[in-house]
Amino acid sequence: MNNSIEKILFSEEEIREKVTQVGKKISEDYKGKNPVLVGILKGSVIFMADLMRAVDINCKIAFLSARSYGNNSFSSGTVQIGDNLKSSLGEDIEGKDIILVEDILDTAATLYAVREKMKELNPASIKICTFIERNIERKVDLKPDYKCFDIEDGFIVGYGLDYAQNYRNLPYVGILKPEIYTK
Ligand code: PRP
Repeated sequence: MNNSIEKILFSEEEIREKVTQVGKKISEDYKGKNPVLVGILKGSVIFMADLMRAVDINCKIAFLSARSYGNNSFSSGTVQIGDNLKSSLGEDIEGKDIILVEDILDTAATLYAVREKMKELNPASIKICTFIERNIERKVDLKPDYKCFDIEDGFIVGYGLDYAQNYRNLPYVGILKPEIYTK
């Protein structure tokens, strides 16, 4: 285990099991359709890579950039989304079934902003798939349609989740030692 990690919260095996279940559910729900999985960079990359292989129907992928945390451990409150959504997606999403893929749904400010912007491109539907949902009271009305895990407190990293851009490569999700982010 990485020595900045206090404890492993979700092991590689638990993650594999949950991602497989979610992929199966998406495959059932979208049978006969051709959804576009849209990963929100950067945090979603690992989840996206595993999820798309757990989906066994025809699907497309696209990515878009959105940031609200920068290098801080708290949300800046402002969500930065790439300027030209249509060209950064590299995929015409008009009339398509979209599944937004996120690593973590926290305040939901990011996904809310992304979803609102995406609506302007007239997709047929937009659903939300998050790897982790933090259970907190939210100012915005947004719930995931698919999720793998719930968490309450603790600063978590790994499996795409970072602290100051590090730890994304850990194959598990762990709780970061507080002395790392309170330094
Ligand atoms: C993180 C995470 C989500 C968002 C969730 O992104 O990947 O996109 O925060 O938080 P919210 O629900 O409170 O909006 P971040 O801005 O850290 O960028 P990153 O994906 O590059 O790590």
